Amino acid sequence: MGRQLLLAKKDVEGIRYFDTYRREGGYRSVEKALKTMSPDAVTEEVKKSGLRGRGGAGFPAGMKWSFLAKPEGVPRHLVVNADESEPGTFKDRYLMEYIPHSLIEGMVVSSFALGSNVSYIYIRGEYAWIVEILEQAIQEAKNNGFLGKNILGSGFDCEIYVQRGAGAYICGEETALIESLEGKRGNPRIKPPFPAIKGVWDRPTVVNNVETIAAVVPVINEGGEEYAKIGVGKSTGTKLISACGNINNPGVFEIDMTISVEEFIYSDEYCGGIKNNKRLKACIPGGSSVPILPANLLLKTAKGESRLMNYESLADGGFATGTSMGSGGFIVLDEDQCVVKHTYTLARFYRHESCGQCSPCREGTGWMEKLLLRFENGMGKMSDIDLLWDIQRRIEGNTICPLGDAAAWPVAAAIRHFRDEFEWHVTNAAEATTRNYGLAHYAEPLSVVA
Ligand SMILES: Cc1cc2nc3c(=O)[nH]c(=O)nc-3n(C[C@H](O)[C@H](O)[C@H](O)COP(=O)(O)O)c2cc1C
Ligand code: SF4
Repeated sequence: MGRQLLLAKKDVEGIRYFDTYRREGGYRSVEKALKTMSPDAVTEEVKKSGLRGRGGAGFPAGMKWSFLAKPEGVPRHLVVNADESEPGTFKDRYLMEYIPHSLIEGMVVSSFALGSNVSYIYIRGEYAWIVEILEQAIQEAKNNGFLGKNILGSGFDCEIYVQRGAGAYICGEETALIESLEGKRGNPRIKPPFPAIKGVWDRPTVVNNVETIAAVVPVINEGGEEYAKIGVGKSTGTKLISACGNINNPGVFEIDMTISVEEFIYSDEYCGGIKNNKRLKACIPGGSSVPILPANLLLKTAKGESRLMNYESLADGGFATGTSMGSGGFIVLDEDQCVVKHTYTLARFYRHESCGQCSPCREGTGWMEKLLLRFENGMGKMSDIDLLWDIQRRIEGNTICPLGDAAAWPVAAAIRHFRDEFEWHVTNAAEATTRNYGLAHYAEPLSVVA
Protein backbone atom coordinates (compact mmCIF):
# COMPACT_ATOMS: atom_id res chain seq x y z
CA MET A 1 0.00 0.00 0.00
CA GLY A 2 1.41 3.40 -0.97
CA ARG A 3 1.35 6.58 1.10
CA GLN A 4 -1.99 7.25 2.78
CA LEU A 5 -2.52 10.95 3.35
CA LEU A 6 -6.31 11.21 3.29
CA LEU A 7 -7.50 7.79 4.42
CA ALA A 8 -4.70 6.81 6.83
CA LYS A 9 -7.00 7.11 9.84
CA LYS A 10 -10.15 5.75 8.26
CA ASP A 11 -10.26 2.65 10.49
CA VAL A 12 -9.70 4.50 13.76
CA GLU A 13 -12.86 4.07 15.80
CA GLY A 14 -14.70 7.35 16.25
CA ILE A 15 -12.60 9.27 13.68
CA ARG A 16 -15.83 10.91 12.53
CA TYR A 17 -15.94 12.87 15.79
CA PHE A 18 -13.85 15.87 16.76
CA ASP A 19 -12.22 14.47 19.91
CA THR A 20 -10.83 11.39 18.16
CA TYR A 21 -9.89 13.31 15.03
CA ARG A 22 -8.03 15.88 17.11
CA ARG A 23 -6.33 13.22 19.22
CA GLU A 24 -5.09 11.61 15.99
CA GLY A 25 -3.39 14.85 14.93
CA GLY A 26 -6.33 16.63 13.32
CA TYR A 27 -6.45 20.45 12.94
CA ARG A 28 -2.65 20.78 13.13
CA SER A 29 -2.71 22.46 9.73
CA VAL A 30 -5.10 25.12 11.06
CA GLU A 31 -2.76 25.84 13.96
CA LYS A 32 0.24 25.98 11.64
CA ALA A 33 -1.42 28.19 9.01
CA LEU A 34 -3.25 30.64 11.26
CA LYS A 35 -0.48 31.02 13.85
CA THR A 36 2.66 30.94 11.74
CA MET A 37 1.78 31.71 8.11
CA SER A 38 0.27 34.51 6.03
CA PRO A 39 -2.59 33.77 3.61
CA ASP A 40 -0.23 34.24 0.66
CA ALA A 41 2.27 31.83 2.20
CA VAL A 42 -0.47 29.16 2.39
CA THR A 43 -1.29 29.72 -1.29
CA GLU A 44 2.42 29.49 -2.08
CA GLU A 45 2.65 26.08 -0.39
CA VAL A 46 -0.36 24.84 -2.37
CA LYS A 47 1.34 26.06 -5.55
CA LYS A 48 4.59 24.34 -4.65
CA SER A 49 2.75 21.09 -3.91
CA GLY A 50 1.55 20.83 -7.51
CA LEU A 51 -1.85 19.73 -6.15
CA ARG A 52 -4.27 19.43 -9.05
CA GLY A 53 -8.03 19.80 -8.73
CA ARG A 54 -9.57 16.41 -8.01
CA GLY A 55 -13.03 17.23 -9.44
CA GLY A 56 -12.24 16.18 -13.00
CA ALA A 57 -10.28 18.73 -15.00
CA GLY A 58 -7.07 18.47 -12.95
CA PHE A 59 -6.41 22.23 -12.94
CA PRO A 60 -3.61 23.22 -10.48
CA ALA A 61 -5.27 24.38 -7.26
CA GLY A 62 -2.63 26.94 -6.27
CA MET A 63 -2.82 28.59 -9.68
CA LYS A 64 -6.62 28.79 -9.46
CA TRP A 65 -6.33 30.41 -6.04
CA SER A 66 -3.88 33.00 -7.35
CA PHE A 67 -6.42 34.08 -10.02
CA LEU A 68 -8.90 35.13 -7.30
CA ALA A 69 -9.72 38.82 -7.64
CA LYS A 70 -9.32 40.83 -4.43
CA PRO A 71 -11.15 44.13 -4.88
CA GLU A 72 -11.14 46.30 -1.77
CA GLY A 73 -14.17 45.82 0.51
CA VAL A 74 -15.77 43.00 -1.54
CA PRO A 75 -16.24 39.66 0.25
CA ARG A 76 -14.75 36.55 -1.33
CA HIS A 77 -15.97 32.98 -1.04
CA LEU A 78 -14.73 29.43 -1.08
CA VAL A 79 -17.30 26.96 -2.39
CA VAL A 80 -16.66 23.24 -2.01
CA ASN A 81 -18.14 21.16 -4.78
CA ALA A 82 -19.65 18.08 -3.14
CA ASP A 83 -22.19 17.46 -5.88
CA GLU A 84 -20.52 14.21 -6.96
CA SER A 85 -23.09 13.04 -9.48
CA GLU A 86 -20.71 11.62 -12.08
CA PRO A 87 -21.66 7.96 -12.60
CA GLY A 88 -19.02 5.70 -11.05
CA THR A 89 -17.67 8.37 -8.69
CA PHE A 90 -18.22 8.04 -4.94
CA LYS A 91 -14.92 9.06 -3.34
CA ASP A 92 -16.08 12.42 -1.89
CA ARG A 93 -19.00 10.68 -0.24
CA TYR A 94 -16.55 8.32 1.48
CA LEU A 95 -14.36 11.14 2.74
CA MET A 96 -17.27 13.23 4.02
CA GLU A 97 -19.06 10.28 5.58
CA TYR A 98 -16.11 8.73 7.42
CA ILE A 99 -13.63 11.58 8.00
CA PRO A 100 -15.77 14.76 7.75
CA HIS A 101 -13.32 16.82 9.79
CA SER A 102 -10.67 16.42 7.09
CA LEU A 103 -12.89 18.51 4.81
CA ILE A 104 -13.73 21.06 7.51
CA GLU A 105 -10.04 21.37 8.45
CA GLY A 106 -9.05 21.84 4.79
CA MET A 107 -11.79 24.43 4.40
CA VAL A 108 -10.62 26.52 7.36
CA VAL A 109 -7.05 26.63 6.02
CA SER A 110 -8.19 27.29 2.43
CA SER A 111 -10.68 29.96 3.53
CA PHE A 112 -7.85 31.67 5.45
CA ALA A 113 -5.65 31.62 2.34
CA LEU A 114 -8.43 32.99 0.13
CA GLY A 115 -9.84 35.50 2.63
CA SER A 116 -13.25 33.82 2.69
CA ASN A 117 -15.16 34.55 5.88
CA VAL A 118 -18.23 32.71 4.62
CA SER A 119 -17.62 29.42 2.83
CA TYR A 120 -20.05 26.90 1.44
CA ILE A 121 -20.35 23.18 0.86
CA TYR A 122 -22.72 22.47 -2.03
CA ILE A 123 -23.71 18.83 -1.66
CA ARG A 124 -25.86 16.64 -3.88
CA GLY A 125 -29.36 16.27 -2.50
CA GLU A 126 -29.20 12.48 -2.33
CA TYR A 127 -26.41 12.68 0.27
CA ALA A 128 -28.97 13.75 2.89
CA TRP A 129 -27.45 11.72 5.72
CA ILE A 130 -24.02 13.23 5.06
CA VAL A 131 -25.48 16.72 5.52
CA GLU A 132 -26.17 15.76 9.12
CA ILE A 133 -22.64 14.40 9.56
CA LEU A 134 -21.15 17.61 8.17
CA GLU A 135 -23.41 19.85 10.26
CA GLN A 136 -22.29 17.99 13.34
CA ALA A 137 -18.61 18.30 12.40
CA ILE A 138 -19.07 22.03 11.79
CA GLN A 139 -20.68 22.46 15.20
CA GLU A 140 -17.90 20.47 16.90
CA ALA A 141 -15.22 22.55 15.16
CA LYS A 142 -16.99 25.72 16.33
CA ASN A 143 -17.33 24.47 19.90
CA ASN A 144 -13.59 23.86 19.95
CA GLY A 145 -12.54 27.21 18.53
CA PHE A 146 -11.49 25.98 15.07
CA LEU A 147 -14.38 27.69 13.29
CA GLY A 148 -16.45 30.81 13.88
CA LYS A 149 -15.17 34.11 15.26
CA ASN A 150 -11.49 34.84 15.88
CA ILE A 151 -10.27 31.29 15.22
CA LEU A 152 -7.47 30.35 17.67
CA GLY A 153 -7.14 34.05 18.52
CA SER A 154 -5.82 34.81 15.03
CA GLY A 155 -8.42 37.46 14.25
CA PHE A 156 -9.68 35.33 11.32
CA ASP A 157 -13.44 34.64 11.25
CA CYS A 158 -14.96 31.85 9.19
CA GLU A 159 -18.44 30.32 8.94
CA ILE A 160 -19.26 27.27 6.84
CA TYR A 161 -22.75 26.60 5.49
CA VAL A 162 -23.96 23.39 3.88
CA GLN A 163 -26.37 23.74 0.94
CA ARG A 164 -28.19 20.72 -0.51
CA GLY A 165 -28.76 20.45 -4.24
CA ALA A 166 -31.91 18.94 -5.69
CA GLY A 167 -30.37 16.02 -7.56
CA ALA A 168 -29.26 17.54 -10.88
CA TYR A 169 -25.93 16.39 -12.35
CA ILE A 170 -25.47 19.73 -14.11
CA CYS A 171 -25.27 21.47 -10.72
CA GLY A 172 -21.79 19.93 -10.37
CA GLU A 173 -20.61 22.27 -13.14
CA GLU A 174 -19.20 25.17 -11.17
CA THR A 175 -21.26 28.02 -12.64
CA ALA A 176 -24.50 25.99 -12.54
CA LEU A 177 -23.61 25.20 -8.94
CA ILE A 178 -23.21 28.91 -8.21
CA GLU A 179 -26.59 29.69 -9.80
CA SER A 180 -28.20 26.95 -7.72
CA LEU A 181 -26.46 28.15 -4.55
CA GLU A 182 -27.99 31.55 -5.20
CA GLY A 183 -31.42 29.92 -5.29
CA LYS A 184 -31.89 29.89 -9.05
CA ARG A 185 -32.28 27.12 -11.62
CA GLY A 186 -28.89 25.45 -12.12
CA ASN A 187 -28.09 26.64 -15.64
CA PRO A 188 -24.38 27.04 -16.45
CA ARG A 189 -23.22 30.61 -17.05
CA ILE A 190 -21.31 31.73 -20.11
CA LYS A 191 -17.61 32.17 -19.27
CA PRO A 192 -15.82 34.56 -19.01
CA PRO A 193 -16.24 36.03 -16.50
CA PHE A 194 -14.91 33.12 -14.47
CA PRO A 195 -15.95 32.59 -10.85
CA ALA A 196 -12.56 33.91 -9.68
CA ILE A 197 -13.79 37.33 -10.86
CA LYS A 198 -17.60 36.97 -10.60
CA GLY A 199 -18.89 33.98 -8.69
CA VAL A 200 -21.44 33.66 -5.88
CA TRP A 201 -23.47 36.87 -5.55
CA ASP A 202 -21.13 38.24 -8.26
CA ARG A 203 -18.27 38.13 -5.76
CA PRO A 204 -14.85 36.57 -6.40
CA THR A 205 -15.19 32.84 -5.73
CA VAL A 206 -13.04 29.73 -5.77
CA VAL A 207 -14.86 26.45 -6.44
CA ASN A 208 -12.89 23.34 -5.50
CA ASN A 209 -13.69 19.68 -5.18
CA VAL A 210 -14.02 18.02 -1.74
CA GLU A 211 -10.88 15.92 -2.20
CA THR A 212 -8.84 18.93 -3.40
CA ILE A 213 -9.67 20.86 -0.24
CA ALA A 214 -9.08 17.87 2.05
CA ALA A 215 -5.65 17.45 0.39
CA VAL A 216 -4.69 20.97 1.50
CA VAL A 217 -4.33 19.53 5.03
CA PRO A 218 -1.33 17.25 4.21
CA VAL A 219 0.07 19.93 1.91
CA ILE A 220 0.31 22.35 4.85
CA ASN A 221 1.32 19.71 7.39
CA GLU A 222 4.09 18.24 5.21
CA GLY A 223 4.97 21.37 3.24
CA GLY A 224 4.38 21.84 -0.47
CA GLU A 225 7.78 20.57 -1.55
CA GLU A 226 7.47 17.34 0.45
CA TYR A 227 3.97 16.75 -0.91
CA ALA A 228 5.27 17.24 -4.46
CA LYS A 229 7.80 14.44 -3.94
CA ILE A 230 4.96 11.90 -3.73
CA GLY A 231 3.84 10.72 -7.15
CA VAL A 232 5.41 11.40 -10.51
CA GLY A 233 5.68 14.37 -12.88
CA LYS A 234 2.67 16.65 -12.62
CA SER A 235 0.71 13.95 -10.81
CA THR A 236 1.74 14.86 -7.28
CA GLY A 237 0.36 13.58 -3.98
CA THR A 238 -2.18 10.84 -3.62
CA LYS A 239 -5.47 10.32 -5.42
CA LEU A 240 -8.72 8.74 -4.27
CA ILE A 241 -10.16 6.25 -6.73
CA SER A 242 -13.66 4.82 -6.46
CA ALA A 243 -13.58 1.45 -8.18
CA CYS A 244 -16.68 -0.43 -9.30
CA GLY A 245 -17.99 -2.79 -11.97
CA ASN A 246 -16.90 -6.40 -12.50
CA ILE A 247 -14.18 -6.54 -9.86
CA ASN A 248 -13.73 -8.53 -6.67
CA ASN A 249 -13.17 -5.58 -4.29
CA PRO A 250 -15.23 -2.54 -5.21
CA GLY A 251 -14.55 0.45 -2.98
CA VAL A 252 -12.56 3.64 -2.44
CA PHE A 253 -8.76 3.41 -2.55
CA GLU A 254 -6.05 5.97 -1.98
CA ILE A 255 -3.24 5.46 -4.46
CA ASP A 256 0.03 7.17 -5.02
CA MET A 257 0.14 7.84 -8.70
CA THR A 258 3.12 5.65 -9.54
CA ILE A 259 1.30 2.31 -9.61
CA SER A 260 0.30 0.67 -12.87
CA VAL A 261 -3.28 0.21 -14.02
CA GLU A 262 -2.59 -3.51 -14.08
CA GLU A 263 -1.54 -3.55 -10.44
CA PHE A 264 -4.57 -1.50 -9.49
CA ILE A 265 -6.95 -3.95 -11.18
CA TYR A 266 -5.32 -7.24 -10.23
CA SER A 267 -3.69 -6.64 -6.86
CA ASP A 268 -5.62 -7.78 -3.78
CA GLU A 269 -4.76 -4.47 -2.14
CA TYR A 270 -7.00 -2.73 -4.64
CA CYS A 271 -9.62 -4.18 -7.02
CA GLY A 272 -8.58 -7.82 -6.44
CA GLY A 273 -8.96 -8.90 -10.06
CA ILE A 274 -11.95 -9.49 -12.31
CA LYS A 275 -14.97 -11.14 -10.74
CA ASN A 276 -15.60 -14.84 -11.42
CA ASN A 277 -12.20 -15.13 -13.10
CA LYS A 278 -13.54 -13.48 -16.23
CA ARG A 279 -11.32 -11.56 -18.56
CA LEU A 280 -10.95 -7.79 -18.57
CA LYS A 281 -12.66 -6.26 -21.58
CA ALA A 282 -12.60 -2.51 -21.04
CA CYS A 283 -12.53 0.25 -18.47
CA ILE A 284 -13.70 3.81 -17.98
CA PRO A 285 -11.06 5.05 -15.55
CA GLY A 286 -12.24 8.56 -14.66
CA GLY A 287 -16.02 8.63 -14.32
CA SER A 288 -18.59 8.19 -17.08
CA SER A 289 -17.47 11.24 -19.09
CA VAL A 290 -14.01 10.02 -20.02
CA PRO A 291 -13.30 7.77 -23.00
CA ILE A 292 -13.65 4.02 -22.51
CA LEU A 293 -10.49 2.07 -23.33
CA PRO A 294 -10.27 -1.56 -24.46
CA ALA A 295 -8.13 -3.76 -22.22
CA ASN A 296 -5.05 -3.79 -24.44
CA LEU A 297 -4.84 0.04 -24.54
CA LEU A 298 -5.74 0.28 -20.87
CA LEU A 299 -2.88 -1.86 -19.65
CA LYS A 300 -0.31 -0.55 -22.14
CA THR A 301 -0.02 2.73 -23.99
CA ALA A 302 0.20 2.75 -27.78
CA LYS A 303 3.98 3.08 -27.32
CA GLY A 304 3.94 -0.27 -25.49
CA GLU A 305 4.70 1.20 -22.06
CA SER A 306 2.90 -0.04 -18.98
CA ARG A 307 0.09 2.46 -18.30
CA LEU A 308 0.16 4.10 -14.89
CA MET A 309 -2.65 5.41 -12.71
CA ASN A 310 -1.81 9.09 -13.15
CA TYR A 311 -2.88 12.12 -15.16
CA GLU A 312 -0.14 11.96 -17.80
CA SER A 313 -0.05 8.22 -18.38
CA LEU A 314 -3.84 7.78 -18.61
CA ALA A 315 -3.96 10.65 -21.11
CA ASP A 316 -1.02 9.34 -23.14
CA GLY A 317 -1.99 9.11 -26.79
CA GLY A 318 -4.73 11.74 -26.50
CA PHE A 319 -8.25 10.51 -27.09
CA ALA A 320 -7.07 8.38 -30.05
CA THR A 321 -5.44 5.76 -27.81
CA GLY A 322 -5.65 7.29 -24.32
CA THR A 323 -8.24 8.53 -21.89
CA SER A 324 -8.28 10.70 -18.76
CA MET A 325 -7.99 10.53 -14.97
CA GLY A 326 -11.21 12.59 -14.69
CA SER A 327 -12.84 12.31 -11.30
CA GLY A 328 -11.26 8.92 -10.48
CA GLY A 329 -14.44 6.88 -10.97
CA PHE A 330 -12.91 3.61 -12.20
CA ILE A 331 -15.53 1.42 -13.93
CA VAL A 332 -14.37 -2.05 -14.99
CA LEU A 333 -16.15 -4.14 -17.63
CA ASP A 334 -15.59 -7.88 -18.02
CA GLU A 335 -15.75 -9.92 -21.22
CA ASP A 336 -19.54 -10.41 -20.98
CA GLN A 337 -20.40 -6.72 -21.07
CA CYS A 338 -21.95 -5.09 -24.12
CA VAL A 339 -20.33 -1.77 -24.98
CA VAL A 340 -23.30 -0.67 -27.12
CA LYS A 341 -25.73 -1.26 -24.30
CA HIS A 342 -23.42 0.41 -21.86
CA THR A 343 -23.02 3.46 -24.12
CA TYR A 344 -26.79 3.64 -24.51
CA THR A 345 -27.20 3.77 -20.71
CA LEU A 346 -24.74 6.65 -20.51
CA ALA A 347 -26.35 8.50 -23.41
CA ARG A 348 -29.71 8.21 -21.67
CA PHE A 349 -28.20 9.73 -18.55
CA TYR A 350 -26.69 12.70 -20.40
CA ARG A 351 -29.89 13.37 -22.34
CA HIS A 352 -31.78 13.45 -19.07
CA GLU A 353 -29.25 15.74 -17.38
CA SER A 354 -28.76 18.26 -20.21
CA CYS A 355 -30.07 21.63 -19.00
CA GLY A 356 -31.27 22.39 -22.53
CA GLN A 357 -29.68 25.82 -22.98
CA CYS A 358 -27.65 24.95 -26.09
CA SER A 359 -29.15 23.14 -29.05
CA PRO A 360 -26.17 20.84 -29.89
CA CYS A 361 -26.39 19.37 -26.38
CA ARG A 362 -30.16 19.50 -25.94
CA GLU A 363 -30.93 17.94 -29.34
CA GLY A 364 -27.74 15.93 -29.84
CA THR A 365 -27.95 14.00 -26.58
CA GLY A 366 -31.50 12.95 -27.49
CA TRP A 367 -30.47 11.87 -30.98
CA MET A 368 -27.57 9.83 -29.65
CA GLU A 369 -29.82 8.09 -27.15
CA LYS A 370 -32.39 7.24 -29.85
CA LEU A 371 -29.76 5.89 -32.24
CA LEU A 372 -28.10 3.76 -29.57
CA LEU A 373 -31.48 2.36 -28.57
CA ARG A 374 -32.06 1.50 -32.22
CA PHE A 375 -28.91 -0.66 -32.20
CA GLU A 376 -30.00 -2.27 -28.97
CA ASN A 377 -33.42 -3.03 -30.44
CA GLY A 378 -31.87 -4.69 -33.50
CA MET A 379 -33.10 -1.91 -35.79
CA GLY A 380 -29.79 -0.14 -36.40
CA LYS A 381 -28.34 0.31 -39.88
CA MET A 382 -24.67 0.36 -40.85
CA SER A 383 -25.04 4.03 -41.86
CA ASP A 384 -26.27 4.81 -38.33
CA ILE A 385 -22.75 4.24 -37.02
CA ASP A 386 -21.45 7.14 -39.09
CA LEU A 387 -24.50 9.20 -38.23
CA LEU A 388 -23.82 8.64 -34.53
CA TRP A 389 -20.20 9.63 -35.05
CA ASP A 390 -21.28 12.78 -36.86
CA ILE A 391 -23.69 13.81 -34.10
CA GLN A 392 -21.17 13.47 -31.31
CA ARG A 393 -18.63 15.43 -33.35
CA ARG A 394 -21.08 18.30 -33.77
CA ILE A 395 -21.68 18.49 -30.01
CA GLU A 396 -18.07 18.48 -28.83
CA GLY A 397 -16.67 21.97 -28.34
CA ASN A 398 -19.89 23.70 -29.41
CA THR A 399 -21.67 24.21 -26.12
CA ILE A 400 -21.74 26.58 -23.16
CA CYS A 401 -20.45 24.04 -20.66
CA PRO A 402 -18.51 20.77 -20.85
CA LEU A 403 -21.59 18.56 -20.30
CA GLY A 404 -21.90 18.46 -24.08
CA ASP A 405 -18.33 17.16 -24.39
CA ALA A 406 -18.95 14.73 -21.55
CA ALA A 407 -21.89 13.30 -23.47
CA ALA A 408 -20.00 13.13 -26.77
CA TRP A 409 -16.73 11.52 -25.58
CA PRO A 410 -18.14 8.16 -24.41
CA VAL A 411 -19.96 7.75 -27.73
CA ALA A 412 -16.88 8.70 -29.76
CA ALA A 413 -14.65 6.30 -27.81
CA ALA A 414 -17.17 3.46 -28.08
CA ILE A 415 -17.25 3.80 -31.88
CA ARG A 416 -13.50 4.35 -32.14
CA HIS A 417 -12.57 1.23 -30.18
CA PHE A 418 -15.62 -1.03 -30.52
CA ARG A 419 -16.97 -0.33 -34.01
CA ASP A 420 -17.15 -4.06 -34.69
CA GLU A 421 -19.59 -4.38 -31.81
CA PHE A 422 -21.93 -1.82 -33.41
CA GLU A 423 -21.63 -3.67 -36.72
CA TRP A 424 -22.43 -6.96 -34.99
CA HIS A 425 -25.64 -5.40 -33.63
CA VAL A 426 -26.67 -4.65 -37.22
CA THR A 427 -25.77 -8.01 -38.72
CA ASN A 428 -27.09 -10.04 -35.76
CA ALA A 429 -30.15 -7.93 -35.06
CA ALA A 430 -32.26 -10.64 -33.47
CA GLU A 431 -29.53 -11.75 -31.09
CA ALA A 432 -28.64 -8.17 -30.21
CA THR A 433 -32.03 -7.70 -28.57
CA THR A 434 -31.84 -10.80 -26.43
CA ARG A 435 -28.42 -11.13 -24.88
CA ASN A 436 -25.47 -9.23 -23.62
CA TYR A 437 -22.68 -9.36 -26.06
CA GLY A 438 -18.92 -9.28 -25.77
CA LEU A 439 -16.45 -9.29 -28.63
CA ALA A 440 -12.87 -10.42 -28.19
CA HIS A 441 -11.34 -7.17 -26.91
CA TYR A 442 -10.28 -8.67 -23.63
CA ALA A 443 -6.72 -9.05 -22.44
CA GLU A 444 -4.98 -11.25 -19.96
CA PRO A 445 -2.94 -9.50 -17.28
CA LEU A 446 0.50 -8.62 -18.61
CA SER A 447 2.23 -10.22 -15.68
CA VAL A 448 1.23 -11.89 -12.47
CA VAL A 449 0.87 -9.21 -9.84
CA ALA A 450 1.86 -10.35 -6.36
C1 LIG B 1 -21.51 18.47 -16.00
C2 LIG B 1 -20.42 18.66 -15.00
C3 LIG B 1 -20.52 18.08 -13.75
C4 LIG B 1 -19.51 18.27 -12.80
N1 LIG B 1 -19.64 17.68 -11.59
C5 LIG B 1 -18.68 17.88 -10.65
C6 LIG B 1 -18.81 17.31 -9.35
O1 LIG B 1 -19.78 16.62 -9.04
N2 LIG B 1 -17.82 17.54 -8.44
C7 LIG B 1 -16.73 18.33 -8.75
O2 LIG B 1 -15.86 18.56 -7.89
N3 LIG B 1 -16.58 18.87 -9.97
C8 LIG B 1 -17.53 18.67 -10.91
N4 LIG B 1 -17.39 19.26 -12.14
C9 LIG B 1 -16.21 20.14 -12.37
C10 LIG B 1 -16.50 21.54 -11.81
O3 LIG B 1 -17.09 22.33 -12.82
C11 LIG B 1 -15.22 22.24 -11.34
O4 LIG B 1 -14.30 22.21 -12.38
C12 LIG B 1 -14.60 21.59 -10.12
O5 LIG B 1 -15.50 21.57 -9.05
C13 LIG B 1 -13.38 22.40 -9.72
O6 LIG B 1 -12.76 21.78 -8.61
P1 LIG B 1 -11.27 21.26 -8.67
O7 LIG B 1 -10.45 22.31 -9.40
O8 LIG B 1 -10.89 21.11 -7.25
O9 LIG B 1 -11.29 19.97 -9.41
C14 LIG B 1 -18.37 19.06 -13.12
C15 LIG B 1 -18.27 19.64 -14.38
C16 LIG B 1 -19.27 19.43 -15.32
C17 LIG B 1 -19.14 20.05 -16.66
S1 SF4 C 1 -23.80 21.94 -22.78
FE1 SF4 C 1 -25.76 21.02 -22.21
S2 SF4 C 1 -25.80 21.13 -19.99
FE2 SF4 C 1 -24.19 22.55 -20.66
S3 SF4 C 1 -25.21 24.54 -20.86
FE3 SF4 C 1 -25.37 23.56 -22.84
S4 SF4 C 1 -27.35 22.46 -22.81
FE4 SF4 C 1 -26.81 22.97 -20.71
